[in-house]
Amino acid sequence: VEQSYIMVKPDGVQRGLVGEIISRFEKKGFVLKGLKLFQCPKDLAEEHYKDLKEKSFFPGLIEYITSGPVVCMAWEGDGVVASARKLIGATNPLQAEPGTIRGDLAVQTGRNVVHGSDSPDNGKREIDDKLITPFLSVALWFKEGELCEWESVLTPWVVE
Ligand code: GTP
Ligand code: MG
Repeated sequence: VEQSYIMVKPDGVQRGLVGEIISRFEKKGFVLKGLKLFQCPKDLAEEHYKDLKEKSFFPGLIEYITSGPVVCMAWEGDGVVASARKLIGATNPLQAEPGTIRGDLAVQTGRNVVHGSDSPDNGKREIDDKLITPFLSVALWFKEGELCEWESVLTPWVVE
């Protein structure tokens, strides 16, 4: 089943938006498979955002992501990657639709409160890199044993 790596960024944690953000994914009907509060080290932030390395805002982005604890989550469900990005809204919160997390709760691209994987492959890479490189034990955001394999009793009421 598809998984998306969703992360409440340091501004979301500082602003007390953790519960609100988790609640939106719970209410939608996705299943939480991993959750932790975590101080992101610089090298992990750089690896996570490596595709943006050449951007002028990259140093500021790394400073932002490592500036305080983040909440790391693995959410599971059919179509969760694309759906989560819709729930999160546009990168620039001023362009994000009302009703989305960024549309409702943020104003600046550099303080947009939440991250969501942009493809199912990146979802896997961000949650548990071992799924892609079985011989390399380089988990990105979750280590072995940090994800829970469980079935929600609500699933039959959410998916037919
Ligand atoms: P993520 O879910 O965090 O990956 O956001 P995204 O997929 O909507 O955007 P993208 O991957 O292109 O950029 C990653 C993050 O870099 C954004 O969420 C912003 O926090 C930051 N970022 C992107 N563009 C800018 C920019 O022009 N200025 C600043 N200050 N930050 C930016
Ligand atoms: Mg992105």
